[in-house]
Amino acid sequence: MSENKQHAAFTFFTLPSGLALKNRVVKAAMEENLAEANQTPSQVLKNIYSEWAKGGCGLIITGNVMVDHLAMIGPGGLALEQQADITACAELARLAQQNDCKIVMQINHPGR
Ligand SMILES: Cc1cc2nc3c(=O)[nH]c(=O)nc-3n(C[C@H](O)[C@H](O)[C@H](O)COP(=O)(O)O)c2cc1C
Repeated sequence: MSENKQHAAFTFFTLPSGLALKNRVVKAAMEENLAEANQTPSQVLKNIYSEWAKGGCGLIITGNVMVDHLAMIGPGGLALEQQADITACAELARLAQQNDCKIVMQINHPGR
C-alpha cells in the first residue's frame, strides 16, 4: 500500500441532502450546555466551535437547540425562537465555518 494513500476519513463526502463535506470527521450532536443565562451561545462555546473548525473538523452538528425557551432540558442549553436576536448564533455559525467546516443546527422541543 502506498505511504501516501489518504485515509477514507479524510476524503470528500456528500450527504444525501447535498451538503458537501471536505472529510468525514464529524462532531456529533452533543449538547455542550455552555449557553448564557438568556440561552444564547457564550464566548466559551464560540471558542470551542472555532477550535473544532480550525482543527480540521468536516462537520459540526450542534447539540439540541430548543425552539422554545420554556421547554429546556436543563441549564446551559441553547434556545432559538422565531423572533429572537440571532446575532450570537450567527457568530457561532461564522466561526464554525472557518477552514471550510460545515455546521448543522439540531433543533428540538423536548415535549409532545
Ligand atoms: C454529553 C452528551 C450530550 C449529547 N447531546 C445530544 C444532543 O444534544 N442531541 C442528540 O441527538 N444526541 C446527543 N447525544 C448523543 C450523541 O450525539 C451520540 O449519538 C451518542 O453519544 C452515541 O454516539 P456513537 O453512536 O458515536 O457511539 C449526546 C451524547 C453525549 C455523551
